[in-house]
Amino acid sequence: MPGSNPRFVAKARGLAVDEVLLDLEDAVAAAEKERSRGLIAAALRDGDWGTTIRAVRVNDVRTGWAYRDVIDVVEQAGRWLDSIVLPKVTGPLDVSWLDLLLGQLEQATGLPPGGIAIEAQIEDAAGLASVAAIAAASPRLAALIFGPADFMASLGMRSLTVGMPPPAYAGDAFHYAHLRILTAARANGLQAIDGPFAAIADLDGLAASAASAAALGFDGKWVLHPDQIETVSAAFSPTQDEYDRAELIIEAYDYYTTVQRRGAAVLDGEMIDEASRKLALVTAAKGRAAGLGRTRRFEPPG
Ligand code: GLV
Ligand code: MG
Repeated sequence: MPGSNPRFVAKARGLAVDEVLLDLEDAVAAAEKERSRGLIAAALRDGDWGTTIRAVRVNDVRTGWAYRDVIDVVEQAGRWLDSIVLPKVTGPLDVSWLDLLLGQLEQATGLPPGGIAIEAQIEDAAGLASVAAIAAASPRLAALIFGPADFMASLGMRSLTVGMPPPAYAGDAFHYAHLRILTAARANGLQAIDGPFAAIADLDGLAASAASAAALGFDGKWVLHPDQIETVSAAFSPTQDEYDRAELIIEAYDYYTTVQRRGAAVLDGEMIDEASRKLALVTAAKGRAAGLGRTRRFEPPG
């Protein structure tokens, strides 16, 4: 949500999302940046955000706005803030700068040390080239976020729609970036989040974009408009069949390894072993988080 528009920010309360991002960066005009800091701080302080994670995106470290964005928002509303999204991260020093500044602000304002998380946007060639070092740059890091618009511009990709890979390319133009970000995130215990898809009316395109990131293992995706929430949530939740199968594998594996003391067994014509259990745990956790319930139970043989 652009932090310059209090009406939009107010609308963001109560949406069925895990996190709300109040923006000071590319969705806010240069002339509105300074005023928006106070608007965002007031919105964080005064509104009821329930359990939604509250994040503010500051301007990037090479602008003259970044330091004051962080200082004003944290001094005025630090206790109502969960995370800072740092855009256009090009190397680990960008993250270290924010980590140190947040540490100073936490000390000065009596906030718990390390309480404010950092989410790093990887959205240009330099950032992707350094993604492994960026992912290890601070214990505050919670997530790496792919920024497709800036990334396409940085590489020179031929698309004019944010989040839409260039249509003339036969493969998935984002695959390399997605996998590198995901691998760096997982190697450091971070979430990997896919960026926005700007064609708000194109829900099929959004569904395809979200399905591709979800299939790789991404944890979520930004939405730009309330109409995108349902499509993206559905893409990141397992289907009922997938969820049932995951829970069944976990239950069956437990039976075979403990009752029958076998490390590998056959379930519905498919071999399952310890690696199958690990795979099943991923899908089961996502299904439980999405509130799914089981409709199938394991029947021990015999
Ligand atoms: C988001 O910030 C993007 O550049 O896609
Ligand atoms: Mg961007």
